[in-house]
Amino acid sequence: METKALKSIILAAGKGTRMKSSLPKVLHEIFSKPLVGWVIDSVSKLPDVEENIIVIGHGAGLVEEYIAKNYANSSCVLQKEQLGTGHAASMAMDKLKDFKGLVLITCGDTPLIEADTLKSFVEFHNSNNSSLTVMTAEFDNPFGYGRILRDEKDNVAGIVEQKDATEAQKAIKEINTGIYLLDWVKIKDAFAELKNNNVQGEYYLTDIVKWSVSKGFKTLGFKIDDNREIFGINSRTNLQEASFMMKDKYLDKLMEEGVTIVDKNTTFISPETIIEADTTIYPNTYINGKNKIASCCKIGPMTHIRGNCDIEEGCKIGNFVELKNAKIAKKTNVCHLTYMGDAIVGSHVNIGAGTIFANYNSITKEKKVSKLEDNVSIGSNSVIVAPVHIGHDAFVAASSCITKDIEENSLALTRSPQKEFKDWVKTKKGENK
Ligand code: UD1
Ligand code: CA
Repeated sequence: METKALKSIILAAGKGTRMKSSLPKVLHEIFSKPLVGWVIDSVSKLPDVEENIIVIGHGAGLVEEYIAKNYANSSCVLQKEQLGTGHAASMAMDKLKDFKGLVLITCGDTPLIEADTLKSFVEFHNSNNSSLTVMTAEFDNPFGYGRILRDEKDNVAGIVEQKDATEAQKAIKEINTGIYLLDWVKIKDAFAELKNNNVQGEYYLTDIVKWSVSKGFKTLGFKIDDNREIFGINSRTNLQEASFMMKDKYLDKLMEEGVTIVDKNTTFISPETIIEADTTIYPNTYINGKNKIASCCKIGPMTHIRGNCDIEEGCKIGNFVELKNAKIAKKTNVCHLTYMGDAIVGSHVNIGAGTIFANYNSITKEKKVSKLEDNVSIGSNSVIVAPVHIGHDAFVAASSCITKDIEENSLALTRSPQKEFKDWVKTKKGENK
């Protein structure tokens, strides 16, 4: 199939009043990534995406800063006054003046939309030679959504908003998800003709549908299977619900792929973390950001993995262990009460209980990396002050503070020798009588 150039518009100017926040709604986070970031990442996985245009308004400065810092393929346009979704999308007109491909329109507050669904949407549009395709969904309780109107031949005829709908229209269960794909050359003229003569006095983006039909352009609906994907966030409750939907969906997928999740309720794993089959995740584990965990590992209970970790097969990461930026080779054990940050650790290493990798200098604000070769053994309650290199098979005695490199096969210890005072207690007790 022929592929067409694609640009996307992401609507993100709304206020999000119900969030009761000083932060713009789309910067609220799930797994430490702003809502709009999840949308941009899904859209960016489509082949042939040339650019995302983010329509910003409330909290524009902060949103623009986030986009500029994180997304080279995205730029922002300002909607000074929020006059409706149609008005918002038309803010991208200048940037799209001479564009001849497809334009995908989505919202910045629906973080669960998946790249695969968007891919099917684009394929559906192209293979049916559609000029305008609306993504739809079917809800038992469609309250609040725009309803999809179809003619007697079942073709999409228009969209009517909840507030403008007749009783008969309110009974329609097929709704508008707010995601559209436009053949830009044909549909762009619709924007100049949008009117705000509706109950809300807004320029509705939804009106491009009946405009397209009236011009005789092929206008189709594409119904999605999983309604969770278009769940929009308007409140903190919705944010919490969306976090659970995202992680539950991913945990189900991991289980399908052969990962054991002992307790779905208390396990949080970001969909950006890859986990291979035959690994077991014990309860109360929180895995955030991008990580890779190979097969046959045991993680948890009560483990916190904070991102950029690469754990090879057969490792044990146990209770009250926190990992960040750690590369751990196969069959290494980090079983109890450890902080390991900025570390490269070999295979068959044993990290004793209560080991701390001191990676951060709070005065210079620098982080340094420590490297442990294969078969190293670190005794309990040790501190590894970065940067150090510990050679293979080296042995660190318990309660040592390691600040210098250790050669292979050496024993290192920094604690003071044990002293013993015979009958000291007896004498003390005698004195007190
Ligand atoms: C919109 C659709 C409705 C659909 C629903 C799906 C319209 C008129 N209605 O309704 O058919 O079922 O989405 O969730 O489009 N925004 C701006 N600038 C504006 C107004 C909105 O950027 O002036 C942004 C918002 O930040 C939000 C998105 O557009 O991300 C949708 O706006 P919202 O007000 O939530 O639209 P709905 O009334 O939910
Ligand atoms: Ca909405």
